[in-house]
Amino acid sequence: MDKLIIEGGETLRGTVDISCAKNAALPIMAASLLTDDTCVINNIPALRDVDTMVKILRALEARVERKKGSVVITGRCRRVKAPYALVSTMRASVCVLGPLLAKRKVAEVSFPGGCIIGPRPIDLHLKGLESLGAEITIKSGYIMAKAQRLKGTKVYLGGHFGSSVLATANTMMAATLAKGVTVIENAACEPEIADLANFLISMGAKVVGHSTPTIRVKGVRRLHGTNYNIIPDRVETGTYMIAGAITGGSIFLKNARHQHLLAVIDKLRECGVSIAEQKDGVRVKGRIKNRIKPSTVTTLPYPGFPTDMQAQIMSLLCLADGISVITEKIYPERFIHVSELSRMGARILVEGPNAIIRGVKNLSGAEVMASDLRASAALVLAGLVAKGKTRIHRIYHLDRGYEKLDKKLSKVGAKIHREKD
Ligand code: EPZ
Repeated sequence: MDKLIIEGGETLRGTVDISCAKNAALPIMAASLLTDDTCVINNIPALRDVDTMVKILRALEARVERKKGSVVITGRCRRVKAPYALVSTMRASVCVLGPLLAKRKVAEVSFPGGCIIGPRPIDLHLKGLESLGAEITIKSGYIMAKAQRLKGTKVYLGGHFGSSVLATANTMMAATLAKGVTVIENAACEPEIADLANFLISMGAKVVGHSTPTIRVKGVRRLHGTNYNIIPDRVETGTYMIAGAITGGSIFLKNARHQHLLAVIDKLRECGVSIAEQKDGVRVKGRIKNRIKPSTVTTLPYPGFPTDMQAQIMSLLCLADGISVITEKIYPERFIHVSELSRMGARILVEGPNAIIRGVKNLSGAEVMASDLRASAALVLAGLVAKGKTRIHRIYHLDRGYEKLDKKLSKVGAKIHREKD
């Protein structure tokens, strides 16, 4: 397994090109199953999770070709079974459930299960689809769903931790081909859901209210092919913002959308980081002479502070001049990075969903283990500023969600390289 070696202490300067959003690309690729026509999806990032979705679509016998950053999908699939071997490696695989059910009237999708960031139930996915008239059973680890033509309905999709991004995606996709109108209440407002809605609209779907908690879908008989560009990745953007901030550097994030990161920007400004919206992107400048100021961060559904940026801001707050508190309200157990940051000299105490961070002056390079995707990004950020060498093992997690991370960081001056096993 590849490792990343980082020699900390470089000040990052230059431009980083932000890739398109992984978490928009995956459900959008699944949505191509809603038509027999061809969909061209542009600017698809070169990521392992995208490769996995390609494999799932091919396992369903949809036609998928990759052409220079685009993926061309003809969703006329012959199979309806998404197998355990693929689905178990990526949660977003569950997004084929709604489209298969709506278009093929039947779906067999392996149960995605929990993962290292805590339990990840699928009750809201099932609630959304059942309320549209699907009959669902769980058999031998598979979600077995069938229906005649789905029927429009009103459904409230709030759970214990608020709205659900992918349950909203599954229900909205299924509703596009249902008879009548579906109203999804407490729908997720994340930009990736709005992007999926725009993709569906470009296929002829009738969707309004996306980006608000009430999405209305008027079902149509058929959807057609399309050619679509995906939005820039807000979590990748936020991660590079912190790379600029933590190294006291100045980085221009080309293609970044300021509007999608208001909660992150607000917190970074509170810490003393300067962030400016510019034409075609965002510029971030870290504090050069003074230490970062401490802060309190609570993760919430969009437009609140994203859970997918919690680990990265923790790395920054480890170096703040005082005590910070992070409260994780989406995945209360998502603190797997704490033990590895502690290895680098961070002082963090976790109590339930709260992490209390006592800022230190320096971190020191160490051997650390990447666990989930964002936890791994937090270790890279810490490594950029730590004294000495940080060796990050098991970086395949990073390759799932950050396109060319080592190359992008080297380009702005980081001393980072990949060691093959
Ligand atoms: C999406 O996962 C993202 N994944 C995650 O990003 C992200 O962390 C998460 O949304 C929250 O923003 C993709 O978009 C591919 P949820 P999703 O359903 O949709 C609970 C990354 O690093 N819940 O919005 O699966 C759930 O346990 C990944 O890129 C239920 O209770 O997350 C959590 O507490 C990791 N029942 C909360 O809702 C359900 O049926 C929000 O989860 C579904 C979810």
